[in-house]
Formats: sequence, C-alpha cells, structure tokens
Amino acid sequence: MSDRSVLNLIDKLNKEHALDKEEWIQVIDGYTPEIAANVFEKARVWQEKYYGKQIFVRGLIEMTNYCKNDCYYCGIRRSNRNIERYRLTPDEIRECADLGYELGYRTIVLQGGEDPYYSDDDIADLVKTIKEAHPDCAVTLSLGEREFDTYKKWYDAGADRYLLRHETANFEHYRMLHPESLSAAHRQECLRNLKKIGYQTGAGFMVGAPGQTSEHLAEDMVFLKELEPEMVGIGPFLPHHDTPFADEKPGSTKMTLYFLGLIRLMLPDVLLPATTALGTADPLGREKGVQAGANVVMPNLSPTDVRKKYALYDNKICTGDEAAECKNCLQMRMRSIGYEVVASRGDHCGVVS
Ligand code: 5AD
Ligand code: FES
Repeated sequence: MSDRSVLNLIDKLNKEHALDKEEWIQVIDGYTPEIAANVFEKARVWQEKYYGKQIFVRGLIEMTNYCKNDCYYCGIRRSNRNIERYRLTPDEIRECADLGYELGYRTIVLQGGEDPYYSDDDIADLVKTIKEAHPDCAVTLSLGEREFDTYKKWYDAGADRYLLRHETANFEHYRMLHPESLSAAHRQECLRNLKKIGYQTGAGFMVGAPGQTSEHLAEDMVFLKELEPEMVGIGPFLPHHDTPFADEKPGSTKMTLYFLGLIRLMLPDVLLPATTALGTADPLGREKGVQAGANVVMPNLSPTDVRKKYALYDNKICTGDEAAECKNCLQMRMRSIGYEVVASRGDHCGVVS
C-alpha cells in the first residue's frame, strides 16, 4: 500500500465519512507522520465548521471508586485490594456541582465505578436536584452498564447525556480485556438502549490496549459509524501497576492523535474530548488532541482528597490540583494554541435543547 493510496482513502473518508473494514485496516497500517498531518488539517476544517475555535468544558466528578467489575486494565477493579475506596455522599456531589457551576461549567459529569451502593432512585434524586439547582446545566452520567428501565428513569429525572465506552467492538478482544461476567453484546445493547431513550450518547475505546490489532481498530471504526454516537471518548491504554496488565506496554500518543483525527473525519460534528489519559501520556497531549480534531476537555471537579484514589492507570495528571486550578490551567493551554474555552452546555449540534 503506497502513501498515495492511503491519502486517496483519506480523501474518500473526508467526502463520504465512511470506509469499509478493509479500507480502515489500510488507513491504520498506512500511518506515517505526513499522512497524520494531512488528516489533522482536514479534521480541523470540520471542527471549525461546526464549533469554530470553541472548546467545551465538562466538570468531572468522580463520585465513587467502588466497582463490582474486574476489568483487567482498570486500576479500580474489584480485585485491587491496594487502593483506598471512597464514595462521595449526595450532598458532597451536589457541592461539587455547585462549585463547578460557579467556575462556569455548564455540563456536570457524574462518573464512577459500577457501585450498587447508590440505588437507581438515589441517582435519579441526585440528577433531579442538580438540574433544579442549575436548570441551564447539562448532566452527563458515566456509571456503567444498567438495564433499560434504569437508564430511562435517570433520563426522566433530567440526565441529558451518557458516556459508556464500548471498549472494543471485537467480541474475542473484549474477552481478552474483561472477565466472563462482562460481555461485549450486553455493552453494545446498553449503548443502543441509551440512544433509543434519547440520551446524547458517548462510546469509545482505548488505543493500544493489550492484544489489540489493526483489524480490531477497524472494527471499532465501523462500529462507531453504525452507532452514530454524539460523543466519542478515546485515549491511550496506560498500565496500572496493580492490575493483570501491569507489565503491558502503553498505547502510543501518535496513534491516539491519528484516531482523533480519523474520528473527526468520519463523524464531522461529533463531540470529541482530548482526554486525561492523553494528557498523561504526553505533557502536551490535550493541546495536540485539539489540534488533531478534538473539541472538548474535561477538567476534574472531584474534591482533592479523593482524586488520587480514582486512578484507572498510573501517573494520572491533575490529582493534586484544586478545581479552579484545573480550570485555569486548561484555559491557558487552549489559549496557547488559539482556542477559547467556553461556558455553555456544548450540546451536540444535532440536538435542539
Ligand atoms: N488506561 C487507559 N484508559 C483506561 N480506562 C480504564 N482503565 C484504563 C487504563 N488503564 C478507560 C476505559 C473506561 C474509561 C472510564 O477509562 O476505556 O471506559
Ligand atoms: Fe470498574 Fe473497570 S473495573 S470500570
């Protein structure tokens, strides 16, 4: 496959916003820095067409690090006995949301491990009270796999968006990353339910996860096209020392950036964060992510004393900073590359709110 033919496929992607699996494999295997630069340039055209130079911010509250699952890659997996577990109370979560509002955030993300301690009604009440206090805020949930009725209850309580990465579209690869109790089929069913209910839905995967091949990544791209999520979260896989994947090699920054650009070309108006994992893998990862096509950043709002405990991977950034520091830091970083952080809900542009 010559560089010329890969560039032709990228032109096709830029026009038709779709490729088939074989074509994706060629684009992925054909990576060169020059081809990536071409992708980023095209990606920025779409980013600017839909969102200008605006970067949306989401205030992230990590509400619990208890998790009933045992994903092999994740630092807060159930079998990790070496971390101190915590849960924020509903009042503490509301206080974080209030602080986020004062700092100018108009999206609050409640994220956590799959923690059965909070009942469906507890979460619904939490969403309801946050929306009552701040009607101009969007509330995003990222609390894992639940059944249709639970998702519906939370949506009816006022939740606007839901993040649930599909992790990998390939069923065998999913088996390599998760124990028997979890299945790719159920995860994908959850995503379809979320879309059906009306959530702005986010899927995504890790780049460079153990066992991942170009074919798996090609399947991820085909899966995303078919699902048409409003948001896509990707970041490099980073090992955590207390997991079965402690000695695996991390995913690369350059391939993560390449995928951000490719996702922007495939789903031109998608909400695409430059993730904390990307910022951890490379000190300028989030800036480079935006320049590759990302248009969202997610500063941390969690109380400082719990931040270190929410470690999905090693060396996570922002664990020592106050919420206001994270906000200023990101504002400065985005300005340094000619973008402006904005205080708005930052809905997907296909959504009328
Ligand atoms: N490295 C990078 N990302 C990770 N996640 C979980 N563990 C890791 C890790 N070790 C990602 C998963 C999950 C999201 C919340 O964080 O994709 O869906
Ligand atoms: Fe809980 Fe992965 S082990 S999110």
